[in-house]
Amino acid sequence: MSDSAKRPIIFSGIQPSGELTLGHIAGALRNWVALQRDYECYFCIVDMHAITVRQVPANLRRWTLDCAAMYLATGIQPEQATIFVQSHVPAHAELAWVLSTLTGFGEASRMTQFKEKSEQHAHNINVGLFTYPILMAADILLYQADLVPVGEDQKQHVELTRDLAQRFNNIYSPTFAVPEPYIPRYGARLMSLQDPHKKMSKSDPNRNATIFLVDDNDAIQRKIQRAVTDSGTTIEYDPENRPGISNLIEIYHLATDEPIEAIVERCREWTYSQFKAAVAEALVAYVEPVRTRFQQIRSDEASLASLLLSGAERAARVAQRTLRKVYRKIGFWSPKD
Ligand code: TRP
Repeated sequence: MSDSAKRPIIFSGIQPSGELTLGHIAGALRNWVALQRDYECYFCIVDMHAITVRQVPANLRRWTLDCAAMYLATGIQPEQATIFVQSHVPAHAELAWVLSTLTGFGEASRMTQFKEKSEQHAHNINVGLFTYPILMAADILLYQADLVPVGEDQKQHVELTRDLAQRFNNIYSPTFAVPEPYIPRYGARLMSLQDPHKKMSKSDPNRNATIFLVDDNDAIQRKIQRAVTDSGTTIEYDPENRPGISNLIEIYHLATDEPIEAIVERCREWTYSQFKAAVAEALVAYVEPVRTRFQQIRSDEASLASLLLSGAERAARVAQRTLRKVYRKIGFWSPKD
């Protein structure tokens, strides 16, 4: 694609609220890497979203850099994509405020993730948790994103973003691109290795439920060998009825890139323990180089800092352009207009 052809725009982000997992690769990073060449990409580390749940400050700082290093280790290229930290670009908070005045209370109350999270964090149901999707809308709309790669659980937030963009465009005049969610077909949602009815999560209290990208080879082997499977015997892909084995098939697919159908075809008659051994071996081979690159990149904080600084500068220029338009249209007086 020539430089002058305008590439469609992508925005996505991950919260630096824990160690990154294989689920992040499956649900986000793998797709980001594939998309970065053909799209103009903004990959954000959304620290402002992370504080809607209480964070230990030192951890938040550490995980922010971990997150940046992992973006690079999995193959995001700073020459292709803009990598930055949300709190470095003040326009996110500023646009979120404007959008909050266009969001109905009832509309925000219908967000299912808010309902779930308020149950999980019943001792800290803060207003930020409630307005979280509005900040997410601001993230996306500031960059005029066309496409938002997200997991299924974020689809409703992208729908809200679309509604807010259209509402603003109707009330004032066309200002925002109306984004589409982009949800990959397979493996968007890896499941817990200990309870395949639950999503694989960085915050699962059972460490055996989750493959962390910093897990060593022994830990990976052990977690796969101990993964909970279903009562069947054949290797079949049926997430509904055979979630345990289907999850292992997805992990195998992720690690080898072999199509799900081909895996099933080839391994149908294998025993669970044979199949687990193959998955573990493939996964070790897949994660090991990511982990090595991560450690190398993460140890050079000066380079990470300069990467994030220039990312934020680039992002801020684009974001500021959108915010200025918004402020003008809604009637904020400025001496610069
Ligand atoms: N809410 C998203 C999540 O937890 C993270 C996120 C914040 C995001 N802002 C975004 C994702 C904008 C896509 C686009 O997964």
